[in-house]
Formats: sequence, structure tokens, C-alpha cells
Amino acid sequence: MQRVFKVTAMLLISMVSYKVQSQTGSGTEDKINSLIKKMTIEEKVGMIHANSSFTSAGVPRLGIPELVTSDGPHGVRLEHGRGWSDAKNVNDSGTYLPVGVALASTWNPSLGFAFGEVLGSEAKYRGKNVILGPGINIMRSPLNGRNFEYQSEDPFLVSKMVVGYIKGVQSQGVSACVKHFIANNEEVDRGTVDVEMSERTLREIYLPGFKAAVMDAGVHTIMGAYNKFRGQFCTHNEYLVNKIMKGEWGFKGVLMSDWGAVHNTMDALNYGTDLEMGSDIGTHPMKFPKFYLGDTVVALVKSGKVPESIIDEKVRRILRVLYKSSAFSKTSPGEYGSEAHIATAKKVAEESIVLLKNENILPLNLNTIKSIAVIGANADRKNSMGGGSSQVKALYEITPLAGLKNMAKDVVFNCADGYKIERNAIATPEMIAEAVDAAKKSDVAIVIGGWTHGYSKSWSDNAFDAEGVDKPNMKMPFGQDELIKAVVAANPNTIVVLLGGGPIDMTQWVGNTKGIIEAWYGGMEGGNALAEVIFGKVNPSGKLPVTFPKVLEDVPAHKFGDFPGKNGVAVYREGIFVGYRYYDTYNVEPQFAFGHGLSYTSFAYKDLKVTKGDNNVVTATFTITNTGKVSGGEVAQLYVHKEKSAIERAEKELKGFQKVFLQPNESKTVTITLDKTAFQYYNETKMAWDMEAGRYSIQVGTSSRKILLNEVLNL
Ligand code: BGC
Repeated sequence: MQRVFKVTAMLLISMVSYKVQSQTGSGTEDKINSLIKKMTIEEKVGMIHANSSFTSAGVPRLGIPELVTSDGPHGVRLEHGRGWSDAKNVNDSGTYLPVGVALASTWNPSLGFAFGEVLGSEAKYRGKNVILGPGINIMRSPLNGRNFEYQSEDPFLVSKMVVGYIKGVQSQGVSACVKHFIANNEEVDRGTVDVEMSERTLREIYLPGFKAAVMDAGVHTIMGAYNKFRGQFCTHNEYLVNKIMKGEWGFKGVLMSDWGAVHNTMDALNYGTDLEMGSDIGTHPMKFPKFYLGDTVVALVKSGKVPESIIDEKVRRILRVLYKSSAFSKTSPGEYGSEAHIATAKKVAEESIVLLKNENILPLNLNTIKSIAVIGANADRKNSMGGGSSQVKALYEITPLAGLKNMAKDVVFNCADGYKIERNAIATPEMIAEAVDAAKKSDVAIVIGGWTHGYSKSWSDNAFDAEGVDKPNMKMPFGQDELIKAVVAANPNTIVVLLGGGPIDMTQWVGNTKGIIEAWYGGMEGGNALAEVIFGKVNPSGKLPVTFPKVLEDVPAHKFGDFPGKNGVAVYREGIFVGYRYYDTYNVEPQFAFGHGLSYTSFAYKDLKVTKGDNNVVTATFTITNTGKVSGGEVAQLYVHKEKSAIERAEKELKGFQKVFLQPNESKTVTITLDKTAFQYYNETKMAWDMEAGRYSIQVGTSSRKILLNEVLNL
């Protein structure tokens, strides 16, 4: 009874706030209400749970189509039809974009929009209403197997990139689905782990990306995470969903479950799940009615135990999404694997590559280099189908080796596998000898290594970057340390190219290696983009969206908190000190800092002026000049530091950035505006955002550790 009351009260609140803040026009809302009036309870319930692997039912009698979804964050997933077996004879080879962490390392929100446009257009072409991305979980530990799909350790960078992506998808008449709400930060026990964190940590670190998705981008759908938060599953979590997402943020779209993430009918009804997706019961269609939001709900409503209005509210939200996702009328067909889409994939890949270290070795000069040793099993390996639900059937995929060969037609390539991609394999003496031999007889050696998605029989096979898997540690797998050391000793002109979803321990060889590049998983054009950076056709402009610590032991989640959870609970004891917030506050020197990324040119920063307007709006202006010989892109980063804070605070926090492209000798004035939120922290006593009065310094630089300009102001 109490529960029914709670449900009714929730409904009233949401009806009132709905009048205030409607996301669809009132004409559409009228149509939706009139459709709901005509529907039977069975028809309504059919709409709130899956009826195949990626769809939920429509009501054909009323002209309501099914809601059709598809993964995933960096391409439209291959067609699985109504079950899970790959569909035959369908055109499902399309654009394979660079992964989420690569997109974030461009630090270019306009590329976020372009990326989203490609996805939206391809999803529409493939008849999908919802694309299940972006994934924006905070990179709390380098070991999380899905970091490659996500964006950053920093909530501000996530918030800026996610808005472009979502607006891009939704500009095509397709809905985005931001996921996984929230704290799905480990994979091994994602279905059971209960996450505990302070309110301040929740508000400052883990929620801002989702809040921006709702309030700045107007995302139409959100996917709940598998895990629990403070004892309740995230997909039906009274505090997270009812109070924050639908209450404080006024979200009017659909909260769908992750696949199989609903655990209880009454909780799902009460605490905000609008759509139960999944396949855990099996793929036979007769089993879908047995979902938690299936037949049981019909019986509960018919017996008067649950008011029908609860179901109406969920159906209303689904209908809103259908209206916004070209389900009733399609304005354009969308495009698939088009030249323009591939060009966007290439552009993102180019801007995502991060030049980590360069001791006068890069770019390579095509006029003088006669031979290159390309070493590593990753060099000619395709990645599009790896990683789990984000797998994409690429129209084609240019591997690093193929990219190098495309550009260096007259160069002799001496190739060696170097290592074997098998979980516990170690580079054998024979493999190392072969690699050393190739390195010795070449002008330059390029080792292509790092992490791997895995995938031969199943996506978790030999995987390090994949769904359902976390990395066992941060050490290079497959004996790559020994290999790189031997190659560097054999040929000092060695460049290491890392693929993967984030940090790896480089301590054994970083000091002696002249050139190091982070290339992530660069999508279908990744190999061409990499070659263009290596040979200087493209000047690298990517910056790390995540700190690369030296060793795993330095990572705050591992030093203080639980990773993974212990006895079913993960306590985030490191609190707000995630990533550079920890390394910079506690003076732990990282291998490569958050925001770091080199260029083939140089930039000078000068003339920082900071002015204060009304409501603590602060404007910072400064000038950047390209002082080198080639054109290039730079990401100017603005951090805020509070002097003499009375509360525990990070040394600095990113609150603004801008990417600029400059010709040699060209200068540009950059203006960054900071509103009051740039200076606020979450006050747990008041349970509200708050601001300390006093002196703040505005720090401008090229990474969290390389601050070049600094001005102080009183607020
Ligand atoms: C993943 C989601 C994905 C869904 C559908 C789940 O296992 O966690 O990210 O969208 O499957 O494939």
C-alpha cells in the first residue's frame, strides 16, 4: 500500500513538472495522450519490455511501430536480427569510428558533433531509432575493461564532449542513449557490485557528464548501469533516478535498463525504469513476456495493486522518444559508409593521436628513410569486431602496417610479430631474435604494441580491453617489455606505438625510447591517420584525456579505494581525488600528465587577462602564437585553483579549454568564460552547490602539469 502511494505521489510530481518543462511540443503530447487512451493494458505493457534482442513492441493497430535500438558508441553494430545470431544477407558493414577515449583525446567538441552526426545518420539508414551511446563512465582505474568506450577521468571534459556527440546523433532524427548511469567502473562483477561513494564525489565526479547530457544536450534516452549504488540497483534506484535524474534534472525521456539489469518488478515500477531490455531469459520470443516488466505487470494492474497511470507514464516517455526518433515519419534516409562519413572517421583519428614523447625522431622523413622494421602482432590486427557490444562490422579497416605501407611506397618493410596475442603468452627468445634482426637491418624500428581487444572465439578471448573483463594489472601483456627493450638496444631509432583504451606501465623502457605515440583504437582509417602522423603529413594535436600513471600502485582507486569491489561492495575511498585531481594534489609524478600531448611545432602563450563580471562570471583572455615552422593544433587548458581553501580540494580542476589551429607565426586570442559553477564545490552539509569566497588563481597551460600563465582574482 505504502509503495502504491509512493508511486502515485511520484506520478503527480512528474505530471506537474511535466507541465512546466515539456520536451516535446504540446501538439505531440496531445497525440501521445490520445494514443495512450486507446491502448489496452496488454498493449501498454508490451511497450515497456523487450520483444527481441534490441526492440520493444509497438501497437500495430494504432500505427505505433516498435522501438528499435542498436549498439553502440563508435558505429552501428552488426545486425543481430531478432535473436543473437548474426543476420545473413544484410548490408551491415559501415563506418567504424575511433573509440570513445580517442574521440575525447581530440579535445574538439565540434568533432564530437561530427562523430554523432555520422552515427545518427548510419543508425537511421539501418532503421534504428536509438543508438546505444555515448558511454561516459569516469575512468577511475586503468584496469576497467571498457575504458576504451568511455571518455575521460575528468567530468568537465566528459561534459563538453558528450554534448556535441548527443546533439550530433539527435540532429539526424535518431535518439542517443547515454550510458551507463552510473558508476559502472569495473566489469568483472558489474552485475552485482554495490558502489559506495560520498555525496560530494557523486555530485562532482560521477554525475556531471550525465547532467550535461540531460540539461545541455537534451538526450532522449539513458541506460541504467548494471551495478548497485548505495544498496539499490542503478536501473531502479530511488535516489539516482527519481530524485536526481527525473526530479532535479527534469528528464522527460526514457530510462532503459542495461540488458538484463532489472531485478524486481515493484522496484522497476517504483524507482524509474521505463523500459526493460535484455535477453537473459533466452531468445525465444515467448519468453520476453516473462520479463519483470512483462505479464506480471498486467496482472498487478488488473488486480488493482498498481495504478495504470504508472504504466501510462512509462509509455508516454517511450512514445516521446518514438516521435523524436523518426519512428512515425522519416525526413531523410540517412547514409551508410559514405565518403563523408569515412572522412569524419579519419579526421577524428588524426586529431586523436597523442605524441607522448619525441626526442628528435619524429616525424620520419620519407626522402631519407629507406627501411623500417614494423614489429608487433598488433601491427596488422583488425579491431573493429573486438571489445564486446561496441563491435562494428567495418566496411574496411586500415591497420597500422597497411597505413604505413600506403604512405611509404618506396620503403622496405622488415616485419616481425614480436609477440603472440594470447593471454599468458610471453615473447619467446626466437620471436625476440627475429624482431631484433628486423630492427638491426632497418633505418628505424616501429613497435606496435599495447593492449588488445582480444576476440577469436568470443569477445573475452585473450581480451584486455573488452566488456565483462578487467585487466589483471597495468603491465604490458605478452612479454612486450622484454621485446621493446631488446629492439631499442638493437636500434636506438625506435618508436613505440601504443594501441588500447588507456594507460599501460612503460617504466621499463620509457627512458630509453626516443619516440612514443598513443594511437588508441583509431577506427577504420586509424592506420592511415597513424602513418600520416609518423611521416609528418598530419601534425599531432591529441591530448591525454586520462593521466598515464607510472605504475598501478600510484592509482588512487587502488591505493585507497576498492578495485574491484570486495565482498560485493566497492568503496570509492579516494573520493573526489580521481586522476590528476589526486596526482597533482598529492605530488605523485605521473608518466604522462592529463592534458599532455606534443606537437611538431611549438606554441607560446602570453597576456593572460582575467576580468570579473556580474554573478561571478569570469572572462579569461590570452594569446597563443605558433612559434615553430609548421602549422599545428594546440589545446589551451584552463584550470581553477583555490588559494587557502578551508575545505579539502583538488589542487586544480579543469574548467575550460579551447583547441586552436595556427599557421607558423600566426597568433590567436583565446577567450574562455567561466560561470559560477567553475568555482563551486558540493557542500554535503547544505546538500547543495556552494562557493567559498576568496582568492582563486586562473591557470592556463598545455597539461595539468605544465601551467604557463597564472592570474589571481578575488571572488
Ligand atoms: C552493455 C551495453 C549494451 C547492451 C546491448 C550490455 O551488455 O553493457 O552497453 O548497450 O549490452 O548490447
